[in-house]
Amino acid sequence: MHHFSFHDSELYCESVPLARIAEREGTPLYVYSRATLERHFTVFDNAFAAVRHLTCYSVKANSNLAILRLFGRLGSGVDVVSGGEILRALAAGIAPEKIVYSGVGKTRPEIELALARGILMFNVESAQELELINRVASEKGARARIALRVNPDVDPRTHPYISTGLKKNKFGVSIDEALDVYARAAAMDWIEVAGIDCHIGSQITTVSPFVDALGRIKDFVKRLRGRGIALRFVDLGGGLGITYDREEPPEPDQYAAAVISELADLDCTLILEPGRCLVGNAGCLVARVLYTKQTALKEFVIVDAAMNDLIRPSLYEAHHALVPVRQHDGPVIRADIVGPICETGDFLARDREITRPAQGDLLAAMSAGAYGFSMSSNYNSRLRAAEVLVDGSHWHVIRRRETFEDLVRCETIPACLG
Ligand code: LLP
Repeated sequence: MHHFSFHDSELYCESVPLARIAEREGTPLYVYSRATLERHFTVFDNAFAAVRHLTCYSVKANSNLAILRLFGRLGSGVDVVSGGEILRALAAGIAPEKIVYSGVGKTRPEIELALARGILMFNVESAQELELINRVASEKGARARIALRVNPDVDPRTHPYISTGLKKNKFGVSIDEALDVYARAAAMDWIEVAGIDCHIGSQITTVSPFVDALGRIKDFVKRLRGRGIALRFVDLGGGLGITYDREEPPEPDQYAAAVISELADLDCTLILEPGRCLVGNAGCLVARVLYTKQTALKEFVIVDAAMNDLIRPSLYEAHHALVPVRQHDGPVIRADIVGPICETGDFLARDREITRPAQGDLLAAMSAGAYGFSMSSNYNSRLRAAEVLVDGSHWHVIRRRETFEDLVRCETIPACLG
C-alpha cells in the first residue's frame, strides 16, 4: 500500500502530480510521501502493541533529517551504525535513550560519542570491541549498556550481499562463542549486560527465517539465565521485505504475530529495527529521458538518473518498476534503461518492457525510498539529487540539489602546485 497512483493518466504522489514537482525542482529527484511513511510506521508499530517493544527505525535505509524527525514524532527510536548516524538522529530530535548502535567496526571516537550522549545500548559485534567499550567507559566514568549481536546461522534466503546471519558473514559472534563473551562482559566493571541482538539479513520475504533465528535466541537466553545473566532486551534487527516486483512478503501483523508467539515466555522488551519496510515504497526516483537510441543489438533509453543516484540495480541486480509519469500510447519495446555514467554497469533496468518513451518524458523508478538516496554518491562528479517530501497537496524540499561548490567543498589545491 502506498500513496503513488494514477489519475487521468498522470502519476500522483498524494494530491500532487509528479510532473509538476519535477518541473519545479528538476530531475533526478527523489519524492517521498508523508502519508505513506506515517502509515507504514503506524501499522508496523501497532502490530507489536501487545508486547513491550521499541521500534528503532534503521537510519541507513533513508537518513534524511526530515524523515528521522517524522518517525521520531511518531515515537520511533533509531538503529544507527556510525557516529554520523548518531549525530543525524540527535539533530533530528531523537532521544538518546531510544538509540541502538550496531556495526562491526565502531571506532574509539564513535564509542566516545555514543557514551557521552547516553545511547540506549551498543550492539557489540566482537570480543575486542567489548573490551574497547569497557576501557572507554571506564575512562569516561560512564557505564555502557550492551547487547551482544549473535549470529544465529540462519539462511534468510535473500541476495547474498544482504545476508548477514550466516556463519560465513562478518557480523556478530557465533552462538557457541557468545556464552563465553557474555560471561566476560558480566565481569567487566563498566559494562551493563542489557540484551541480545541479531539481524539476519534484509529483504526477507517469509517469516520462517525470523522465527528460526528467534527460536535459537530464545534457547540461548534461557541458557544465559541458567548462568545468572538476565537480559532485558531482545533486539531482532530489521529485514522485513517489500514488493518490488512479484514478491509477496508477510504483512507486518503476520510478521509480528509470528515473532510475538515465539517470544512469549521471555519477558524481555522487544526491539525491532525496520528500515526498508517503512520507507521503501514511500519514495520514488523521478528521471527524465535524455535520449533514446537503437543499436544493432539493443534499444537504449538514456535517462538523467544514474547508478550514483540509485545503485541497487547495478549492485544487486535489484528490480525497480519503471513507470511513465504520464501514461501514453505507443509500441511496447524491450530496452535497457541506462544512466549517463561511464560504466556498462550503469543501468536502472535491463531488457525491460516499456512503452517507448520520447525525449523529455519522465520515468519514475518506484520503491526507491530505501537504500536509494542513502547509497548515492558523487561518482563522475555528478551532483546528488534533490529530495522532496509531499504532504497532501504541498511538497517541501528536504534536501536541495547539490551545486558545484558542494562537490569541491572539502578539496584543496596545495600551494606547491601553484
Ligand atoms: N539492523 C541492522 C543491524 C542492519 O544491518 C540493517 C540493514 C537493518 C537493521 C535494516 O534492515 P531492513 O529492515 O532495511 O532490511 N543496501 C541493501 C540493504 C542493506 C541492508 C543492511 N542492513 C539494499 O539496497 O537492498
